[in-house]
Amino acid sequence: MLPQTRLKLLFVTPEVTPLVKTGGLADVSAALPAALRELGVDVRILLPGYSRVMEALPDKRLAAKLLNTGFHGEVQLLEAALPDSGVPLLVIDYPQFYERDGGPYIDHNGHDWVDNAQRFALLSKIGAILGGPSSPLDWRPDIVQCNDWQSGLTPAYLHFSPPPGAATIMTIHNMAFQGIFPPLLTTALGLPPSSYSVNGVEYYGQLSFLKAGVFYANHITTVSPTYAEEIQEEPLGFGMQGLLDHRYLDLTGIVNGIDIHEWNPATDKYLPHHYSADDLSGKAANKRTLQHKLGLAENPDIPLLGVVSRLTYQKGLDLLPAIVPALLGHPVQIVILGSGEAALEEEFIALAQAHPDQIAAVIGFNEGLSHLIEAGADIFLMPSRFEPCGLNQMYSQCYGTPPVVHATGGLRDTVVDATPENMNNGTATGFVFNHATVHGLQACITRALDAYGDKNRWNRIQVNGMRRDFSWNKSAREYLALYEEVLQRI
Ligand code: ADP
Ligand code: GLC
Repeated sequence: MLPQTRLKLLFVTPEVTPLVKTGGLADVSAALPAALRELGVDVRILLPGYSRVMEALPDKRLAAKLLNTGFHGEVQLLEAALPDSGVPLLVIDYPQFYERDGGPYIDHNGHDWVDNAQRFALLSKIGAILGGPSSPLDWRPDIVQCNDWQSGLTPAYLHFSPPPGAATIMTIHNMAFQGIFPPLLTTALGLPPSSYSVNGVEYYGQLSFLKAGVFYANHITTVSPTYAEEIQEEPLGFGMQGLLDHRYLDLTGIVNGIDIHEWNPATDKYLPHHYSADDLSGKAANKRTLQHKLGLAENPDIPLLGVVSRLTYQKGLDLLPAIVPALLGHPVQIVILGSGEAALEEEFIALAQAHPDQIAAVIGFNEGLSHLIEAGADIFLMPSRFEPCGLNQMYSQCYGTPPVVHATGGLRDTVVDATPENMNNGTATGFVFNHATVHGLQACITRALDAYGDKNRWNRIQVNGMRRDFSWNKSAREYLALYEEVLQRI
């Protein structure tokens, strides 16, 4: 197909798969730009040059030197390409901020880097420079799309820069992370004192990077239509519901897609056995492999419940331990892969030690195991209290692993509950519950286990999910239509 447009987009993000990932934002930051490129968009990704990024990109070249960033000394901008898709990358080479051992946001002890405000103000500032008239590059974006608080100051910097500047879009992947810092930093980071106001970057007596983005961007998006509604109210607006409600005409929810090259059970490079909706035998073989690997009883008939998640309040997995005793009364196995809150990690480890045949807990981040769990589990659990979009419920539908989900955000928008009506019309793909409580989760798991007991019914739910199109194709078109609409409007 011929490219439909040469719209130029700068996609500013703090993480991108496979270079640096702490969650779904990294997957979206790789797959959405790649899908937009196929639609003809001239897209470049702007990313901090963390140690692991610098090491993974041997073929980078100098694109520009920046002297007037407002930060001490020279900042180099390097050009490279994202492995696999080849999407052009612009990497910020500023070792004193980014080249260190540890995560992108936290050190080895789990503490935020003390200079996170400066580190991500620099990311934001370079996004604004590249979107404005003083860019050192020939390439000028029409739109700068910012992702989460780490790039939230870009719209503010552009707002206070001389025109002409690119249009800005603030994409919210999670309102729970807001980039909150002491008010004094407002001017230290190069914003005018007047910006520290309710009509500006001020948020309950602090400076908030996310609030800056939400306030100054030309348009705001979030990663599912339901979450776009939810954040206009308490409690999921996290204090910004008033502003978001006020800007509702400038707020669009576009559901994430998934990378169907990375997440396809017929080709998945991490799976020992491939399979498809036409022949699920490979799924049973993956289940055996998973049981073997984690020391569980190797029985094909025991329903295996899988979890791959950050272990935080958002994800609602603290509801699970309370129902484990009741669950273990059934022939059930549970596999948990995750990391996060220490108390929850310890609780799952203790449960696994007490029931080694039935429960396995792996603490840490393990991409290969996450694919094997999606493939080898029978049922996937995602009881999130809130979920802006969520990716694993889509992966699990594609992998014939019907998810059990709380009706919130993107979970509500992407999983079709196995009600009698949805079974009859052939749309049921999982199990949805309305209240994120121990009882709500338990009743829903019981419903899923009942359905699992009816092989014919179960197979229909699996195949309905596996046949759905979760690719980025549709959502990337929605973003493109939105970019064009925003450019016409401003
Ligand atoms: P969030 O970004 O809120 O964590 P998402 O569902 O959007 O939630 O994305 C989470 C992504 O991170 C998925 O790709 C999931 O497989 C992955 N993931 C989460 N925890 C782990 C882990 N411990 N090991 C491997 N992958 C993980
Ligand atoms: C955030 C959200 C998650 C979403 C992801 C990618 O991490 O918690 O729901 O899928 O961003 O947009």
